[in-house]
Amino acid sequence: MNKPALLGGTPVLAKRPDHFTWPRPVDAAYEGLKRTLHSGIWGTLGPENERFASKYAAYCHTKHCLPVLNGTISLELIFRALDIGWGDEVIVSPYTFSASVHSIVLAGAMPVFADTDPETFTLSPASVEEHITPRTRAILGVHLGGRPFDFDAIDAIARKHSLILIEDAAHAHGSEWRSRRCGSLGRAGSFSFQASKNLSCGEGGAITTNDTALYEKLWSMHHNGRAYTQQGYDHPILGTDARLAEWQCAVLSAQMERLDGDIERRMRSASLLDREIENLPFLSACKKDERITRNSLHLYPFRYHSDRLGGLSRKLFLKALNAENVCFADEGYCDPIYRMQMLYTEDFARLTGRIFRDPSGELPGNELLASSEGCWLQHTTLLGSDEDILRIVEAAARIGKYAEELQRAFAQEV
Ligand SMILES: Cc1ncc(COP(=O)(O)O)c(C=O)c1O
Repeated sequence: MNKPALLGGTPVLAKRPDHFTWPRPVDAAYEGLKRTLHSGIWGTLGPENERFASKYAAYCHTKHCLPVLNGTISLELIFRALDIGWGDEVIVSPYTFSASVHSIVLAGAMPVFADTDPETFTLSPASVEEHITPRTRAILGVHLGGRPFDFDAIDAIARKHSLILIEDAAHAHGSEWRSRRCGSLGRAGSFSFQASKNLSCGEGGAITTNDTALYEKLWSMHHNGRAYTQQGYDHPILGTDARLAEWQCAVLSAQMERLDGDIERRMRSASLLDREIENLPFLSACKKDERITRNSLHLYPFRYHSDRLGGLSRKLFLKALNAENVCFADEGYCDPIYRMQMLYTEDFARLTGRIFRDPSGELPGNELLASSEGCWLQHTTLLGSDEDILRIVEAAARIGKYAEELQRAFAQEV
């Protein structure tokens, strides 16, 4: 067997393939941009905004979609519109990007971290229930990497305790739980169209909901607090400017063309990987769940067991894997969000009126993923052919075989 590239061997692929490049434009995007350029409407709430909002609402199986500036302000607007703030607690997954937490704090509420199920990388329902207090108002579930959280269990908990369930669907464009699309499962769903996302316009976001009153309030809030559908200088409620420009909406409508084909390709790649990974004792795929009828696979999360490879560190394993040019792999959210300095600032105390207590040591599932086992592949890796996917497995096997040598050669790095 050839040596790993990191030890001077020939990499499995001479260079990274073209399908790793992201975002990738569809031709129709040029049309949309040209249309906007000559429309005289370069701002917002014009025909491109309307076209995209109705197209994306239909795609998410919701009555309404509100395009906004990004997938962070979308969450903050949802909390504010639902009057979740000072004195309230929101239970949230700790295995997430900072925006899920920032938005809760900026609304004035206290984030409370339930544990992550290491077999799914999403919220553990049992832990959610354990973290409910008289102050809990909502649960923010994250569909990590496009994999829906256990909606049956978490929705049942929310109903039992009269809590509002909100979806952070930043990764989950087109994912489904029992054939119901993400973004339509909770009271509201929040999407991101930032450059790395499966559906992208550079920077952008959207809120989806079936609740018409909530949608109308959100519309007002994202349009400087003007009354629903109104323009001008009357501002009955507090709001901000979170409107998404026509350019981005035009690009999004066009880019939607490739969403379903890409999902199909990624799901095929993921099931091939799931199967092949079973032959590599030092890796495990996420638990299968038949209730997930579609997965956008923004990420392909998996676990690395260093103890089954003579202690070869996760960092070094991934470095060696990336050197083979077959994938983009990384350690994911390896610094737990509840240890980030932002939660221990004076600003935090001023905004929430409370001091944050570090839950380190109480969330073993999340600690396991963060500190040692959690890894993921970026979605572009899954857009290749079956052959491309098998090359990832070949590369991992090669590293497995040379684990001892790698450890010796890079002893000073780990
Ligand atoms: C889980 C999650 N939520 C929210 C966001 C925020 O989205 P945006 O970057 O559009 O503000 C992201 C962005 O990466 C994310 O990964």
